[in-house]
Amino acid sequence: MPARHQFIHRFSRFMRVAPVVLLLAACSGSGPQTALEPQGPIGRDIDGVWDLVLMLATFVFVLVMGLMVWAMWRYRERPGDDAEPKQLHGSSVIEIGGVHFSVVLQTDITVPTVRGLLDIRQVPEGPDVLQIRVTGHQWWWEFEYVDETAPDGRTLITANELHIPEDVTVYLTMTSADVIHSFWVPALNGKRDVVPGRVTNLTLIADDPTPPGEPLPGQCAEFCGLAHADMRLKVHVHDAANYATWVDEQLAPSAQPAPETPLDAGWQTFSALCTACHQVTLEDVEGEVTTHGPERYVTTDDLDFRSSFGPNLTHLYSRDTFGSGTFTLNEDHLSQWIDNPASLKPMRADRNDLATGRVLGMPDLGLSPTEIAEVVDLLETWR
Ligand code: CUA
Repeated sequence: MPARHQFIHRFSRFMRVAPVVLLLAACSGSGPQTALEPQGPIGRDIDGVWDLVLMLATFVFVLVMGLMVWAMWRYRERPGDDAEPKQLHGSSVIEIGGVHFSVVLQTDITVPTVRGLLDIRQVPEGPDVLQIRVTGHQWWWEFEYVDETAPDGRTLITANELHIPEDVTVYLTMTSADVIHSFWVPALNGKRDVVPGRVTNLTLIADDPTPPGEPLPGQCAEFCGLAHADMRLKVHVHDAANYATWVDEQLAPSAQPAPETPLDAGWQTFSALCTACHQVTLEDVEGEVTTHGPERYVTTDDLDFRSSFGPNLTHLYSRDTFGSGTFTLNEDHLSQWIDNPASLKPMRADRNDLATGRVLGMPDLGLSPTEIAEVVDLLETWR
């Protein structure tokens, strides 16, 4: 068989198998970050538009392909066909009909899309709306619950794991400390860019509490440098009572070890080095509550976002993950992280410059194995 025929033969065999392979690939089950299994009304609106477009697109595909195959078959060359086919130019019926058909179809797509866009961009108002500020950082997320305050006026600040109550409208007010990021929790809403110097917003509403240990996954969806792929986040959804409990726990200070106790060694290291970037709110043995670490503001034209250089660690061990939702939080991972952070996540802490607010990751602090173990022991008590 000549090479060309052999190629065509192989290609046609491949084309017979390819659809089967593609179809089977769809059976692998959905990935965790799917937008096709919405967990709230806004996610469902978006999914509804997708379903509609898929349905109409399938209809057009089948119609066009069907007509084409029919025409090819009906007007194929037959043996003894040597007369030239009838020559025609244009058909008013088909042209006007085609234009009408397209306009109707496009309208069917445009109207629900624009309506959906306007719906999900509406600013929710009222006392029941939970206001959360989001600051995107290279490469982690910071959340400030401006309505959840301790008796001394401190707001609730946490990182990377967002906790929200079910069936409550959550309005995110977002900015970035450095470059453009994009906040995306596929099950709850579409992507929204997080832009330095500007404020953008996004509404989240979740139907039901998430099972323990199975939060809704999210991801920075705008390329933002080295660890963009590891700039993840989790959304834990609670019923009202569990959410209130979580808020109370987060607002309470953690304990500062008493001098000369075993945990005090870790605290000496932590307070000398880690509080250069991380904030932590602690109650000492005299009952005095102090927030240690830098207070920083990320400014925009409209608002100043309270922020820090690294995640707030007051209740680090209440989280399942660290490193922006990338690693399971346990002693081994945390020890490796403190020992050599860039071995777990690509970062350029050598370029950090706190004076200008430029932070590109967690530095290797050169701690000894003993010092690391002491710091980890301390962090494990901050639940
Ligand atoms: Cu932040 Cu990608």
